[in-house]
Amino acid sequence: MSQTGGRPRLAGGANPPAAACDIRSAGACFSAADPYVVIAMTRLVLLFSLLVLAHSAQAADLEAGRSRATAVCAACHGANGVSVSDAIPNLAGQKAVYLETQLKAMKEGARKSPIMNAIASQLSPPDIADVAAYFSSQPGATAAAKSEFLPGLVKTGVTFPEDYQRTFTKYHTINFPATRQVRYYYANKTALQAAQQGRSLPDGSYLFAEVHSAKLDADKSPVMGGDGFYVADQLLFHTAMARDAGWGKDIPEMLRNEDWNYAVFTTSRQPRPANQAECLACHKPLDKTSFTFTLEQLKSGPKPQ
Ligand code: HEC
Ligand code: HEC
Repeated sequence: MSQTGGRPRLAGGANPPAAACDIRSAGACFSAADPYVVIAMTRLVLLFSLLVLAHSAQAADLEAGRSRATAVCAACHGANGVSVSDAIPNLAGQKAVYLETQLKAMKEGARKSPIMNAIASQLSPPDIADVAAYFSSQPGATAAAKSEFLPGLVKTGVTFPEDYQRTFTKYHTINFPATRQVRYYYANKTALQAAQQGRSLPDGSYLFAEVHSAKLDADKSPVMGGDGFYVADQLLFHTAMARDAGWGKDIPEMLRNEDWNYAVFTTSRQPRPANQAECLACHKPLDKTSFTFTLEQLKSGPKPQ
C-alpha cells in the first residue's frame, strides 16, 4: 500500500496556467476553466463511468471462473466441463443462463443434491456468474469422453485397519431398505474416547463401516433379525474416514474437511479407487459434528474396549 492512500498525485502539484488552451474544437479554443466545458466534461465522465459500471455488473469474469473451475469443480465435472463419471453431468457448452439457474436453485436448496447443495452454498452470485460463463464457453464433448480424477483427491492417507475386529468398537447399525443393505459402524479408541468426553474428533481418529447385503426371503424382502436389523448375508465393501496432521493440505478449501481423508476398501482389503471429492462434499456441511453423521451414536455408544 502506498502511504498516500493509493490516489496518484500530479508531479509538481502546480496548476496549469489559466490561459492554456485545453480543448480545441472546430478551431475554437476552450479553457478547462470555462464553466460550460467543465459541466459538459463532468457529464461525460459521469455517463462514461455509469456505462462501465453497468457493463461490469453484467459481464462475468471468465478468468475467475476458470480458476475456480480448475481448482474445485474439476474434481467432478472436469476442468473443461467434461465430467469424471457417468453419474455426474457434463457442463461444457451448456447454456450459461441454465447453469446459473441450476446453481442458484442448488444454493438455495430448491434443487436437492447433497453434494451440489454443499458446493453451491459456498458460491456468491458473482462466483456463480463466473463459473457458468466459463463452462458455457468450453466446447461440448462426445458422450463417451471422460476426464481424469484430480490426483490430490485420489490420494488418501487412510489405510485398511487390519486389526479393527480386535481394536475397534462397533457402535452403530443401520438398515438400508432401498439398497437392501445393512451397515455396521466401528470406531477406534481415539475417536470413541473423544466423542464420549464431548471433544471434537482429533487427529488419529478412525471411523469405519462394513457394508453387507441383507439376507433375502422368498419374496426378495430383507430378513429381519431379533435385534430389529436385517440379517447380514455377504460383506460387499468397506468405507472409511480418518484424520491426521496435514492430510487435508492438498484439498481445495471448498471441499476440504480439516484433515479428514476418505477411502473405500474391497472385501480383500484393497483400496478401491474413489473420488474423495464426493465424500468430502457430502460430509462437509457437518463441520459442527466433526464431519461425522453418526456422532450422536458414537457419544452414546459402548465404552471403548
Ligand atoms: C464432488 C463432486 C462435485 C463437485 C466438486 C462439483 N459438482 Fe456440480 N454436480 C455434481 C453432481 C453429482 C451433480 C448432479 C446433481 C444431481 O442432480 O443430483 C452436479 C450438478 C451440477 C450442475 C447442474 C447440471 C445440470 O445439468 O443440471 C451444475 C450447474 C454444477 N454441478 C456446477 C458445479 C460447479 C460450478 C462446481 C464448482 C464450483 C461443481 N459443480 C462442483 C458433482 C459435483
Ligand atoms: C450423498 C452423501 C454422502 C456421500 C457422497 C458420502 N457419504 Fe459417507 N455418510 C453419509 C451419510 C448420510 C452417513 C450416515 C450413515 C450412513 O448413511 O451410512 C455417512 C456415514 C459415513 C461413515 C460413518 C461415519 C459417519 O460420518 O457417520 C463413513 C466412514 C463414511 N460415510 C465414509 C464415506 C466415504 C469413504 C465416502 C466416499 C467414497 C462417503 N462417505 C461419501 C453421506 C455420504
